[in-house]
Amino acid sequence: MGLRRLEYRGYDSVGMALRTTGGDIARLRTTGRIGALEALLDDWAGPRFDGAGIGHTRWATHGAVTEGNAHPHVDCAGQISLVHNGIVENAASLRAELDRAGHTFVTTVDSEVLCHLIEDERRRGTDLVRALQNALARVHGSWALAVLEQGSGRIIVAAKGSPLVVGHTAEGDFAASDIAAIADWVDEYRVLGDGDIVELARPDSWRRGGIVIPPPALTRCPWRGRDVELNGYTDYMAKEIDEQPEAAARVLDELADGIANGALWEQLNLPPFERLRVIGCGTSLNAGNVLANLARRLGGVPTTTVSGSEAAQEVPDTAQLVVAMSQSGETADVLRGVQTGAVGISPVLALTNNPQSTLARLADAVVGSSAGPEIGVAATKTFICQVISAAALMISALVGMNRVSARSAAALVDDLRRVPDQLAAASAVAKCVIPPLVDQFAAEAGFIFIGRGLGLPYAAEGALKLKELTYRWAEHYPAGELKHGPLALVGVGTPVIVIDNGDPKLAGNVAEVRARGGHVITVGCAGGAIPVVDDPAAPWGPIAATVPLQILARTMALALGRDVDKPRNLAKSVTVE
Ligand code: M6R
Repeated sequence: MGLRRLEYRGYDSVGMALRTTGGDIARLRTTGRIGALEALLDDWAGPRFDGAGIGHTRWATHGAVTEGNAHPHVDCAGQISLVHNGIVENAASLRAELDRAGHTFVTTVDSEVLCHLIEDERRRGTDLVRALQNALARVHGSWALAVLEQGSGRIIVAAKGSPLVVGHTAEGDFAASDIAAIADWVDEYRVLGDGDIVELARPDSWRRGGIVIPPPALTRCPWRGRDVELNGYTDYMAKEIDEQPEAAARVLDELADGIANGALWEQLNLPPFERLRVIGCGTSLNAGNVLANLARRLGGVPTTTVSGSEAAQEVPDTAQLVVAMSQSGETADVLRGVQTGAVGISPVLALTNNPQSTLARLADAVVGSSAGPEIGVAATKTFICQVISAAALMISALVGMNRVSARSAAALVDDLRRVPDQLAAASAVAKCVIPPLVDQFAAEAGFIFIGRGLGLPYAAEGALKLKELTYRWAEHYPAGELKHGPLALVGVGTPVIVIDNGDPKLAGNVAEVRARGGHVITVGCAGGAIPVVDDPAAPWGPIAATVPLQILARTMALALGRDVDKPRNLAKSVTVE
């Protein structure tokens, strides 16, 4: 069950190493999904398992998706079994060296070198904890890993740049890369910091950078396992889309009182800023563009947005605030981005759905987006909650820096409080109008999304959802850019989805599409095909348009036979650069 709850992190293959009462290790692996692993366990005819085991679901980085490349990996003698999230950047040189020393590699996966490094240490008689420490000292990269030793049954875990938590219960000790996996058994847990190594069942063995330290403080588990169950829905995406009005209301309950009086900003203890730089990836970057628009429009704050993987190219700026947006708080590109020289000199505010995350620990201040657990790989409710918490944060900051009056901010809070109902109404409209549109367009090879100004980040999010779920081409453009090239893509019947935020210039861009025979579908203000936006002037843009765009992507993906919760080639939390 625990592995099933981690499957959203990667689902190319899955495997376990389990110690038997006979003292052997049974290694069961498959390129199927969790159900296939369960079948292997059901068919197991060997000795009973003794309770010590490790498991992994893989998102392939090095090495093809094969059973042989599935974790757990083992050393030459089969004594060391290991599962690893992250990347061994110097795997090639270590592998060459270990090869020369007589080790036999059976996979092309970077993680396998870790097994052989530990094996070398153990052959020299080094204790297992110290063996792992010495092995990791030779590795460049990131890891959340667990080692199971056959002879002793000991399990050692370690983390650097990749999330890992451990929990102690009367039933035993657990470790997982996401608390959701062990939430049914664990009430409190400890988060491994960078460079930590600990032996399960022995918290007194906690080491950081090689030095024994007291175990970190306990954190209360924020939810129970049932919070991440389907609860009658056919897929998580449907459930998470439906949860949006409630999640949005929850974020506002938490943050709204601190907006108009500037208290939300004041309590972060950050210096005033002249410029804003927003860092994120994918959907979080789209939410970051909503934040950027709001900061410019309401506060006149010069703002740039940058993908985490490109942040190193930025120019240092001592007068800026960096807002790092990441629902997981573990996206390696964002973590590396905030640590680059160009960005690292500025105060960093993390806006994340995971206040225990690595990003939250790196940042100078944290604002939670309180979406609750999101299992579908496609971000839905986390996007909505990011937009709302970002709006709350920025309005509060602008009040705190005397760029927006408390009175104007109070009116904006009233508008924000209407968003949950707007989302619910948008969902009702979309569930009626989207299915016939999907019947009409599911066979189309490509889709264009356009918007202007505050509508543009929503066009970007609509295109991202459609492409990641349906595997069809879907690109977004500023509507005014179409005529500078992309209009060549528009022929008779080409679907062009227009995010209508009431900008009068959109009409001309729509006319250009129609003149070429393009099929225009307008999402937004009254009068369009999908009229869901009744507050087009809101500085956070046409947020309610998000819902039909999500429902469009999901409905079309299902019509095409796609797995909407686990789209091909993707993983929810991408902890490699
Ligand atoms: O956890 P993060 O918000 O940092 O993830 C960033 C992206 O990988 C993520 O938003 C991705 O684009 C979405 N899953 C797409 O739906």
